[in-house]
Amino acid sequence: MGNLISIKNLQVDFKQDKDSVKVVKGIDISMDKGEVLAIVGESGSGKSVSMKALMDILPENGKAYTDEMLFDGRELKNLTTKEKRLLRGNEIAMIFQDPMTALNPLKTVGAHLVEVIKRHHKISTKEAKDEAIEMLKKVGIPSPEKRLKQYPHEFSGGMRQRVLIAMALCSKPKLLIADEPTTALDVTIQAQILKLLKSLHETEGMDIILITHDLGVVASIADRIAVMNSGEIVEVGTKEEILYSPKHAYTKALLKAIPKCQKGERERLIQVDNTYVELARA
Ligand SMILES: Nc1ncnc2c1ncn2[C@@H]1O[C@H](COP(=O)(O)OP(=O)(O)OP(=O)(O)O)[C@@H](O)[C@H]1O
Ligand SMILES: [Mg+2]
Repeated sequence: MGNLISIKNLQVDFKQDKDSVKVVKGIDISMDKGEVLAIVGESGSGKSVSMKALMDILPENGKAYTDEMLFDGRELKNLTTKEKRLLRGNEIAMIFQDPMTALNPLKTVGAHLVEVIKRHHKISTKEAKDEAIEMLKKVGIPSPEKRLKQYPHEFSGGMRQRVLIAMALCSKPKLLIADEPTTALDVTIQAQILKLLKSLHETEGMDIILITHDLGVVASIADRIAVMNSGEIVEVGTKEEILYSPKHAYTKALLKAIPKCQKGERERLIQVDNTYVELARA
């Protein structure tokens, strides 16, 4: 399938007052086309910052260094600011943990979608609305015609996350980076969103990097898992390797931290994915 991402020796420093703190300490990330990669690690381990470095959207006091940062064969370091912006708009999309902060409370959901659709396609507002309805259908939002006219606060957390996914899909990105897309949601809704991401990966051919602090979450959709701790990747492997024969003590500790599901929840999860259920029993 070929290589989608190859990052060598990524380091990220943050300036604070006069000091500089290294929060990502020379990590390698590689990902083939057709893959779902999960980056797992506890809070503060550097997951979001690493992906922001790839997107070139670090805060002003942050600086990234790499020996190599290839995306689909192109060295990102050599791109102009405009080329990077186009890459972010068209080829890589990112969704964040809290959908409310990414949506404007004063704009309808339809207006959000129409805006991104028109940014990517030279079409009329009417055509963009039709496309928006299609996108909402694609992410499993019922009565999309009605929903288009509503405001973000009229949507549940899970529905808002679906809207963000729909917005990310508008550009037909090669890569979707989903940063803790389900953390704010309850277990059943989490499973539904992950199932949606997995099916979009399969039907739209969009590769995914899923960031989470919960190894249990990734069991259902990741092909490969990278485990991060204190700015370093301590272990990388296939899902099976990481979940069933972890080598690093930190990975083992993360596995132990997977919450045991309540009986009812577990039964609901069985219908969604078997791997999660096996873990829940472990
Ligand atoms: N703007 C900033 N200035 C200084 N330090 C920062 C800044 N943003 C992040 N950091 C630091 O970088 C480190 C990595 O942060 P990052 O957000 O990548 O963690 P994370 O693994 O995504 O955690 P979480 O699971 O909580 O989202 C943390 O120690 C954090 O405090
Ligand atoms: Mg984060």
